[in-house]
Amino acid sequence: MNKNNIALGGLTPKRFLREYWQKKPLLVRNAIPDFQGLLTRDELIELSCNEDAQSRLVMHRRKKWLLKHGPFAKQDFVGLPKKQWTLLVQDVNHFLPSARDLLLKFNFIPNARLDDLMVSYAPKGGGIGPHFDSYDVFLLQGSGSRRWQISTQQDDRFIADAPLRILENFYPEQEWVLQSGDLLYLPPNCAHNGIAEDDCMTYSIGFRAPSHHELVTQFLVYLQDHLEIEGWYTDPDLQLQSHPSEISPAMLRQTRTILKKIKWGSVDIEKFLGIYLTEPKTHVFFNAPEVPLTQQRFIQQIEKNGLQLNLKSRMLAGNEPIIFLNGTGFKVGHNAYQCLNRLANEQILYARHKLDIETKKILYHWYLSGYIEVLDNTDGP
Ligand code: SIN
Ligand code: CO
Repeated sequence: MNKNNIALGGLTPKRFLREYWQKKPLLVRNAIPDFQGLLTRDELIELSCNEDAQSRLVMHRRKKWLLKHGPFAKQDFVGLPKKQWTLLVQDVNHFLPSARDLLLKFNFIPNARLDDLMVSYAPKGGGIGPHFDSYDVFLLQGSGSRRWQISTQQDDRFIADAPLRILENFYPEQEWVLQSGDLLYLPPNCAHNGIAEDDCMTYSIGFRAPSHHELVTQFLVYLQDHLEIEGWYTDPDLQLQSHPSEISPAMLRQTRTILKKIKWGSVDIEKFLGIYLTEPKTHVFFNAPEVPLTQQRFIQQIEKNGLQLNLKSRMLAGNEPIIFLNGTGFKVGHNAYQCLNRLANEQILYARHKLDIETKKILYHWYLSGYIEVLDNTDGP
């Protein structure tokens, strides 16, 4: 938590968590005064043409919903109608340093829960229809204005043949028109519908919440990769069976004993979580520096200018001594843990922070993998 946290309409983050988080919607007028957004419509379109970005175009024409996935070409936007379409781009924080700064304003929610910043553009009448999301979201209005309608309805039937999960029936109970800089927090499963009043850009700060099924199956994958179980199935006292195709009680008993060797504790749970939560999404790749600095030159540079995480990197701190970065856990010494924990929290390590030799070596290894970058000397305070 820091003093740069987003304004929550006079609520402290603590009170917000207690009274609103995962419980009820909150509208905050003027959460970021004069907020005009981080990119223009044309820049968003350009981003949606980048093959590393995940983008969608949603159109509503003659009562039919249409969905196209990116990457797009500029011409895809030339013949579009004047109204009723939306372009959505996911993971904008992987591309814009200013988006990372925006996400840091929400760090009163743990990084482990953060998913991404999605940005949408819609001309008048555009929207993706009434729907539920299974995650928490802060909807921050950029340029233009958007009417948000919400409902606590239980009816969750979707239009059968639509390419998106759009509610068949929507019964709005409350509505507001959000202007630039206004913020609407919605807990999971609160039905909502956003309709652009004019040329409108919306910034969705989304949080991840895996289903129990996802967590359990991923944990089983983790165990499969990390368990070391010795021994072989043996049956020196095998009894003659009258039906050779039968699975015998003795075989069942022995298998049950073998399966009891599957053991895990809180260390495994923490390791699993750190690896799972920092694992890059399947479309995310890191590039090694084209002409890497030598280790000595790298150390000189970071001591002079500092360093930052690559925008695509995900980093979390386990209990000392474990640090997680992009799907790997690193066991480090006390000083390194302190510095790297700071890097995980702030995404940047300025030159004023003194680094020990172990930290410098790890950082160089991460630099060669494309996970971190030397700061330009213009970036530091
Ligand atoms: C949008 O930005 O158009 C949609 C955001 C949402 O409903 O979650
Ligand atoms: Co939504």
